[in-house]
Amino acid sequence: MTRKVAVFGAGYIGLVTGACFAELGHAVVVRDIVPERIQMLRAGDVPIFEPGLGDMIARNQDRLSFTLDADEAVAEAEVVYVCVDTPPMPSGDADLSRVFAVIEALKGASHLTAVVVKSTVPVGTGERVRAALDAAGLEHVGYASNPEFTAEGKAVGDFMHPDRVVVGVWEDATAKLITELHEGVDGPVLVMDVASAEMTKLGANAALATKISLTNELATVCEATGADIEQVARAIGMDPRIGSHFMKAGLGYGGSCFPKDSRALRALATNSGHPFQLLTAVIEVNDLQSRRHIQRLKAELGGLRDRTVALLGMTFKPGTDDMREAPSTIIASRLLAEGATVRCWDPLAEPGAIEPWTSVSRHATPLEAVSGADAALIVTEWPELAGVSWGQARTVMRRPLIFDGRNLLDPQTMKGLGFTYMSVGRPTVSG
Ligand code: UDX
Repeated sequence: MTRKVAVFGAGYIGLVTGACFAELGHAVVVRDIVPERIQMLRAGDVPIFEPGLGDMIARNQDRLSFTLDADEAVAEAEVVYVCVDTPPMPSGDADLSRVFAVIEALKGASHLTAVVVKSTVPVGTGERVRAALDAAGLEHVGYASNPEFTAEGKAVGDFMHPDRVVVGVWEDATAKLITELHEGVDGPVLVMDVASAEMTKLGANAALATKISLTNELATVCEATGADIEQVARAIGMDPRIGSHFMKAGLGYGGSCFPKDSRALRALATNSGHPFQLLTAVIEVNDLQSRRHIQRLKAELGGLRDRTVALLGMTFKPGTDDMREAPSTIIASRLLAEGATVRCWDPLAEPGAIEPWTSVSRHATPLEAVSGADAALIVTEWPELAGVSWGQARTVMRRPLIFDGRNLLDPQTMKGLGFTYMSVGRPTVSG
């Protein structure tokens, strides 16, 4: 059965949710408060980089519209999806003001059947939203928590073919409605209570972040003992009780979810009187990860002052233009603070995110970026970097030093080309 859905928030999650619901046959209005965003979307442009999203929006034009006007979005809606951002406050707690601003805008919308929160929120938010809905005279409107588990770069596929759809509710009727909304989605729907749904989202990201920090800690021990994390992680991951995903050593996790959500869960635990020691360690390991590897680079270069370092890859992972909490931002700041000259290359990074560092020069190709550099530091494993003519790179670099922060290249090949090749959790080799 097709439904009328209003999606509040035209960011990553809101746009993917809106487009996918339209693809499933529902009539969707997406509302945002940023005029440029809505203008772009109305003109057929997608303000974010997400493979497949633009095509999906284009082919569902008849069922998908965009507006700045909250009343217009809600006028016909049966279901309101809240997909606004919940940025961390200095305390680590999530700032929920945008979520409650949406609820405020629903006052008088007594024709609604349900309000659904997809934004990542602390456990207990559903209770507060329920109270806000009641206070707004919407006691009869159902409530659901329907967290997302989509990764950037494959968000459309993750929505349409999820491992699971989590629906947290207090009433069966709302569970039925949200389950029906997902008809056509290829994955099991798990209905549970609201607090458990909220907790599932934070817990899933904490589990993934833990796996990454565990791998990075193992990599550090590998460095000290001469073992190779790539071989170790591969072999460990073949045990299905552990699994091979998220066992890639690197310079630490970044992005809009893991850093924020792990801090939010820690804050939530602390506020509930439980110091979540394991998660605290996971966060600390991640915070130290890029700093520790800069120290290794610094030691190899005999200091960073007046050295030129080329950063290859700036986004928090390949396949996105997103620079939020990218390890490259910490690395660039640290290198500049230590007196190094920083050059960079990235195929997609939002220009606005690099421009603030006027002293970091951006180059059109990896070869141009490493020209004259004392070290090439691979921060993000863009596939283009595997195809660089490293033999040629060696001739334009001041020193033949590669620090591969993502273990993208083959040590023996780099050694054969005459490089000193350092990586994460693998022995350093020199040609
Ligand atoms: C993540 C979750 O995957 C998704 O389920 C959730 O909804 C939002 O957070 P995303 O932030 O898009 O998605 O990126 P993801 O691909 O998970 O990578 C996150 C970070 O972890 C990246 O910085 C990546 O480089 C790093 N990472 C990932 C590793 O360092 N090692 C790994 O093995 C995997």
